[in-house]
Amino acid sequence: MNSIETTRLGTDGPIVGVQGLGCMGMSEFYGPTDTGEALATLERALELGVTLFDTADVYGLGANEELVGPFVRAHRDRVVLATKFAIERRADDQHYRGVNNDPAYIRKAVDASLHRLGLDVIDLYYMHRRDPQVPLAESVGAMGELVAAGKVRYLGLSEVTGPELREAHAVHPIAALQSEWSIFARGVERSAVPAAAELGVALVPYSPLGRGFLTGAFADAGQLADGDFRRHLPQFSGDNAAGNAELVAPIRRIAEQRGATAAQVALAWLQQRAEVHGLTAVVPIPGTRKRSRLEENLGGTRLVLTGEELAELEPIAGRVAGRRYADMSSTADAREV
Ligand SMILES: NC(=O)c1ccc[n+]([C@@H]2O[C@H](COP(=O)([O-])OP(=O)(O)OC[C@H]3O[C@@H](n4cnc5c(N)ncnc54)[C@H](OP(=O)(O)O)[C@@H]3O)[C@@H](O)[C@H]2O)c1
Repeated sequence: MNSIETTRLGTDGPIVGVQGLGCMGMSEFYGPTDTGEALATLERALELGVTLFDTADVYGLGANEELVGPFVRAHRDRVVLATKFAIERRADDQHYRGVNNDPAYIRKAVDASLHRLGLDVIDLYYMHRRDPQVPLAESVGAMGELVAAGKVRYLGLSEVTGPELREAHAVHPIAALQSEWSIFARGVERSAVPAAAELGVALVPYSPLGRGFLTGAFADAGQLADGDFRRHLPQFSGDNAAGNAELVAPIRRIAEQRGATAAQVALAWLQQRAEVHGLTAVVPIPGTRKRSRLEENLGGTRLVLTGEELAELEPIAGRVAGRRYADMSSTADAREV
């Protein structure tokens, strides 16, 4: 398998492979984890040209940063490590989620992430969620100070609106916007993607496979293990699941016709939407715990969908029943009018 192509994040950000790897599921949220296979998946990804590895302080309450740290240190000059701050959890209440954008909190969070990762610098540091109680300029200003202090190389934001991205970029250059973007989830195309295209900010689509649902890997959250985070997501449960599972049929049909897989079609679709919007770069970060799926997903970088195929996929998002999260209060959608 040949190495994938590269692209630049932001106007002067790092050069990365055109597909990254989401590491979240290696520690939490999507069923049982296997450290040996996870570490082998990280190594295989790098061999195949993946260089952007995505984690967050909140994944596994720090365990995911601890998992990827030794891998990053072993390949320090080749890996672009992205992590995030802002979501607070409590060890004694697995459902609790708070959002904190306070400058003092950010200064503590970065040191804690550096410590868990065993690094002296984070390549790309994202604000994971926006807390409207704290002026954005203050938070991004504090993030910029981390760059000046040499603790962080580049800045990113996650789940922000177009106007918020513009406001932040005026305080300090933003290299990447990470938001949910897939055949099922296209709210980001309203204001954030056009702003990113105009500013030269790269898009890093998260959950590009609709958390696995777009691949047909499961058709109802009831099929998932107890404790799987997806059991609480409205699109995959109750009355919504059956209708949404039918929406996946065209993706699978196109895949069959092209001798590809549904995951590859979903990833190729994103690259082509990026062209429509004039984005300088789009680097999806499909998440997987397994080498076989990583290799399959990288095949998506070599697939080009026809106009007819794109037209068939176009109406799907508008027909999806249910919201992306049970609680949408900290998403960009909640602040978009
Ligand atoms: N910024 C944010 O708020 C935010 C939110 C969510 C996620 N993220 C980041 O984005 C990354 C990706 O998102 P995600 O993991 O939520 O969703 P995703 O990439 O859309 O889907 C991941 C799920 O799909 C399965 N999968 C992967 N490749 C597959 C294939 N070829 N065929 C069938 N199933 C496949 C994975 O299972 P296996 O592991 O078994 O392959 C996993 O259950 C995360 O790892 C995380 O780093 C960020």
